[in-house]
Amino acid sequence: MSVPVLKSPSSLLSRVIVLIVLAHFSLPLLFAQARPNAKDLLRQMTLEEKVAQLSQIPGFPVPEFVQQAGQPEDVVRKYGAGSVLWVSDPKEINRWQHIAVDESRLHIPILFGLDVIHGYHTIFPAPIAMASSWDPKMVEAAQTVAAREARAAGIAWTFGPMLDIARDARWGRMVEGAGEDPYLGAAMARAQVLGFQGTQPGDLDRVLACAKHFAGYGAADGGRDYDSSYIPEEQMWNTYLPPFKAAADAGVATFMSAYMDLNDVPATGNRWLLRDVLRDAWNYKGFVVSDALAVHSLITHGYARDGQDAASKAFTAGLNMDMASGTYMKYLAAEVQQKRVSTQQIDDAVLPILEAKIRLGLFEHPYIDESRIPQVLNAPEHLELARTAVQRSVVLLRNEQNLLPLEKTGKIKSIAVIGPLADAQLDLLGMWGAMVKPGPTVSILEGIKNKVGNTVQVEFAHGPNIRRDIPSFFENVPIVPIKEQPQQSPEQARKATNDAVALAQRSDLAVLVLGEIALMSGEAASRSSLKLSGGQEELLEAVVAIGKPVVLVLVNGRPLDITWASDHVPAILETWYSGSQAGNGIADILFGDANPAGHLPVSWPRNSATLPLYYNHTRTHAPEDAPDFTSRYWDVSSTPLYPFGYGLSYTTFSFENLKLSQAAAKVGSSLDVSVDVINTGSRAGDAVVQLYIHQQAGSASRPVRQLKGFQRVNLQAGAKQTVHFKLGPDELQFWSPATKQWVVEPEQFDVWVGENSQAKLHADFRLTQ
Ligand code: NOJ
Repeated sequence: MSVPVLKSPSSLLSRVIVLIVLAHFSLPLLFAQARPNAKDLLRQMTLEEKVAQLSQIPGFPVPEFVQQAGQPEDVVRKYGAGSVLWVSDPKEINRWQHIAVDESRLHIPILFGLDVIHGYHTIFPAPIAMASSWDPKMVEAAQTVAAREARAAGIAWTFGPMLDIARDARWGRMVEGAGEDPYLGAAMARAQVLGFQGTQPGDLDRVLACAKHFAGYGAADGGRDYDSSYIPEEQMWNTYLPPFKAAADAGVATFMSAYMDLNDVPATGNRWLLRDVLRDAWNYKGFVVSDALAVHSLITHGYARDGQDAASKAFTAGLNMDMASGTYMKYLAAEVQQKRVSTQQIDDAVLPILEAKIRLGLFEHPYIDESRIPQVLNAPEHLELARTAVQRSVVLLRNEQNLLPLEKTGKIKSIAVIGPLADAQLDLLGMWGAMVKPGPTVSILEGIKNKVGNTVQVEFAHGPNIRRDIPSFFENVPIVPIKEQPQQSPEQARKATNDAVALAQRSDLAVLVLGEIALMSGEAASRSSLKLSGGQEELLEAVVAIGKPVVLVLVNGRPLDITWASDHVPAILETWYSGSQAGNGIADILFGDANPAGHLPVSWPRNSATLPLYYNHTRTHAPEDAPDFTSRYWDVSSTPLYPFGYGLSYTTFSFENLKLSQAAAKVGSSLDVSVDVINTGSRAGDAVVQLYIHQQAGSASRPVRQLKGFQRVNLQAGAKQTVHFKLGPDELQFWSPATKQWVVEPEQFDVWVGENSQAKLHADFRLTQ
């Protein structure tokens, strides 16, 4: 760098100017490096240093085979590292970063990665809950906060959003995504990528996002986690890939390859996914990391012969970075030396990683200012947004005779708050929320108490403890703070149930908080039955039998079998795992300080035997809308208990005057669809206006309905708003298995608009050549 020199600085002013200019150019160098050029950096790197950039080093104890790559800190000192996984203590982050920046030859900073899925300190509702808001702006705002908090604490890369379409509620990871629908999933993908990353490269309040798990993980056979997925190509393009494509289009910096076999080829070594789709069809320029240890797992799958074969297969399939398995560190250089992988291929894989670090501003700002962290994490506006997010996410499933909202002062003088999740805190955060650095959580019991103060007597009974039948391996992972509830003897469980029923008996109303502890949903948390487990159903039925009004508040990561409750419990509120402000936000809804407008992002099954269940299936020769149709089973209705898109409000809406701008339009052009939405009730509320289409004939059978537009609109009592949607090529196209191409076909289309996927208001139009 050349520093300007003033000739013969005679005056004091000149001396001052010299000092200022010198300070300006040299001071920042004392603290950090200048922003390099990625290609220049690459030219200076040895093969080992390049391979280190292609590796994510585990920052925690790992199985034996990983450590063979060398002690993690020594590796960083000697070669640097692309990333370090799961080091989240800010002091430790700075310490590791100093090793990389001060001691490694090329001073390349580490990218610290952590699963900041729905919050870092302020935990927002779990992704399935945020999807239930049908409010991408809110979701973007939530992830902006998550990014701000994480980045302040040194995390520059999150492993979210999770974009797996989930049609089978047995699969434990349904909770981490946006549900079953590709259109809603794509909207949530865009919102989350924007929230995490922002639009200004180098913004120090943002993090890199990671679209995961690429792709098809949600279709695990039988809903069993990690099991193989068999997905025909047309379903990949039309159903499973659209949220990923939306993330790529929104500029997501990274992708994560999934664990499972997709059509018999593990996703982490799947060339079709990582090259043909991602690089060739989508022209994606970011980088791809494997899921944890997944490169090594290629051997376990029976796909790779040994470590070297695994490194070779993953790398040549298109995987840039090995998450924590050490396989690249050990074997990739040998692949180059033995000329199976070229230096050019290695450079092509390293470049986007260096570019991402440069874009993030990591070279200029490798360290964190620890003194600033508390102020960022405890910003009051973060908690406020978390509470709003709860209010906007919960779904009112049933509300007979307007039992809800409850009055704070009135006939109800005592409330029994009952259930194994009623006083829970960590469990309300879901697995990822509990595993990062969560701040305090407001339990539902506390939220209700906060709301009613001294005007209503609130008492609590836990009821029987709930546990998994088969424990989760996560319980033994030191960084996982969530636990099972203690084992009880049958007598203890019976007594807990009786105490709870007795409390309900002496109270005016019971709020039952039932569902799943956090370990029952998420990774490695699939289940075969959706029943309220561990005596919860019996508790519910016993309390209802007393005859007092009952509100069922569900805390869970997936729809549960509530068929009995849907006939016998007057009010049911689905709250999912709603985060730090769960209790306050839920109490706002229960007592009417907020009006629910969440809508289901999944079809709600009657029981687990009806899975997989999804609304956008193709039309059969015996369709559901035929006059003589009853059920596809003879022992249970094959329709959902609550349809996709369903949710109630404390007010009512009507939908009228559905209009299309043209009755016929040319292929390639767009139509305007408009509808009047009227708040026909007596209080303000949000309607979630949903638009569905159906193509009546074509080169393939098309789904009976497909969501192709939605808007959440706020309407005062009695107010009317005309809502517009566009239907153009993006909405009308599909990937045809006949032509193996994206097509828009000149056919007849149905359109429905309304409050859920069974909306009745209908129109149609024709596309012409
Ligand atoms: C495994 C999970 O499948 C993935 O979602 C997560 O991001 C990684 N572990 C890292 O924690």
